[in-house]
Amino acid sequence: MSAPHVLIRIGGEGGEGIISTGDLLSRAASRQGLCIMTYRTYPAEIKGGLAQFQMKLASDPIRSIGLRFQHLMAFNQEALDAFHDGMLKGGTIYYDPAECPDLSKVSGEIERVPIPLTDLAKEKGGSIRGKNMVALGFLSRLASVDLETVAGLVREKFKRKGEKVLDSNLASLNAGYDLGDQTIDGRGVKLTPKSQRGQSIVISGNEATMLGALAAGCKYMAGYPITPASSILEFATRHLPRFGGTVVQAEDEISAMASCIGASFVGKKAMTATSGPGLMLKGELITLASTQELPVVIIDVQRGGPSTGLPTKQEQSDLKFAIYGTAGEAPKIVVAPATVEDCFYLTAKAFSLAEEYQMPVIVLSDTNLAVRTETVPEFDVSRVDVAERLRPTPEQMKDYKRYEDTPTGVSPIIDPGTPGGLHIAPGLEHDEYGTPCYTGVNHTKMNAKRFRKLETLSKRAEEWMADWAPVEGAELCIIGWGSTKGAIQEACQMAAERGIRVSHFHPRIVAPLPEAQIREALSKVKKVIVVEENFTGQFSHFLKAKFKFDPVEVLRSMGVPITPDEVLEEIVKVHETLHPAKPQGASYAHR
Ligand code: COA
Repeated sequence: MSAPHVLIRIGGEGGEGIISTGDLLSRAASRQGLCIMTYRTYPAEIKGGLAQFQMKLASDPIRSIGLRFQHLMAFNQEALDAFHDGMLKGGTIYYDPAECPDLSKVSGEIERVPIPLTDLAKEKGGSIRGKNMVALGFLSRLASVDLETVAGLVREKFKRKGEKVLDSNLASLNAGYDLGDQTIDGRGVKLTPKSQRGQSIVISGNEATMLGALAAGCKYMAGYPITPASSILEFATRHLPRFGGTVVQAEDEISAMASCIGASFVGKKAMTATSGPGLMLKGELITLASTQELPVVIIDVQRGGPSTGLPTKQEQSDLKFAIYGTAGEAPKIVVAPATVEDCFYLTAKAFSLAEEYQMPVIVLSDTNLAVRTETVPEFDVSRVDVAERLRPTPEQMKDYKRYEDTPTGVSPIIDPGTPGGLHIAPGLEHDEYGTPCYTGVNHTKMNAKRFRKLETLSKRAEEWMADWAPVEGAELCIIGWGSTKGAIQEACQMAAERGIRVSHFHPRIVAPLPEAQIREALSKVKKVIVVEENFTGQFSHFLKAKFKFDPVEVLRSMGVPITPDEVLEEIVKVHETLHPAKPQGASYAHR
């Protein structure tokens, strides 16, 4: 049974303050001790188009937000038309009658309550700009969120816009709350915070990512603005210099990547952040870093593709490029956070891996993680293991070989200017000293050396590499990666409630794969379902090539996260193929 929760969606035109409304309400709920998870979609345009913000408030930690909701606040007709279909039975639409003239499409099972957002904002706040504040006041009352807490957040947010704007917004907020007092009656929601929630914070995936980088000792960040990764660059600009780091907004994606390579060459932990099209542009330089064996972390916040595609929507479709997108054969490590909490710990881990294995590490985040905010336990910096690059011994310095062919493939690295360490780091194939060398024998040897680092890593079977939730007696196992985890976990739980046992394997490292762990997961079940949010089954192809099996593929490229219900539906289908129902009245006795 799902724990008590409430799901609210707010929809309206981009620029009307939909995102602010949801953000303020969910943050206030969190300050009251509730767990929150939020999701937003917004248009690619700066103003206009349909924006929506969905939030789940609950007493217990939340795994997945789902897509259906009980309460809809519709600012305009477009939002009402687009979203009424997604409502749970018995839900309520609150709509602005000045903007929503036509309710004819809404089914009879949905209650409809007019809320004069525009009129109240004009009358009480003196400006229709405050209609989102009317909605915020009303929804605060609906969700039993303390008005003073919300007002405090409104003050924080709008004080920079001047007293007049602030006063007008507070007046609209109060008007909305008062209206709620008069109209809400039995529809109000009262959730009790769990006292044992512990120290927690509300944070987005992108913020958690940059915090993870700071915890790992990142000292250089260069990026070029691109949705939905820009907020990582913005966060870095505000905070990295406070920790002795440097942030550069470069003239383009390629120069951002090139300068990270330079920073790494002089010994700094360096990172960049981008999204699909930017990752492609960086491709050649990522290959260069791999050949030069330089540590660098690349955050790729995936969005809908191809090309500029669906810039503000969800998709997991950069996996193939992240793994295979190189000129020639250049090893890199690819990890994929599955939760906002993972964004912190796994980004920190990416720095350790980059330093340890001296190669680019791509962190495949996605829009879902990047823009959603979530209640997570306060990050524990003592859990971050900060690795440093391998340095030469005095013995090795007698005849320093930057690319020494070692049993692990990892060779000692020095900072430029170190006496006795003169070397070049070429993109051209080179020998152990770094001197360009084009013989086939040397090329094969250096390829083997570089790829040996991945073999060394893939043999590590450590807990952080994957979440493995085996279920005794399960015939089915779901394999997912990245932000599909919460939906899969909830689906497995719902399946268990129907008597279908399903295991769940969710790797955090996707290249190289944690082979031993995957083989174990595969060996225990009759059928595997691979769930991913792309059109062609990129991870599934990768798994099939490696492990030679035949999974059921559940693929979505709808621009929104897959829901627990969708996964459950597939589980039930596959379960039924393993256990076909006996035809009514049929007898299996031998005649
Ligand atoms: N009074 C005064 N100002 C208010 C307000 C109020 N009652 N309510 C909101 N605002 C301000 C917000 O503070 C924000 O201004 P700021 O940016 O100066 O902080 C602005 O109005 C927009 O409000 P917000 O709630 O943040 O967003 P929205 O729901 O109106 O949606 C965006 C607009 C943010 C989604 C849209 O402008 C946007 O950025 N789209 C994405 C563009 C993109 O990334 N494209 C892809 C390019 S490849």
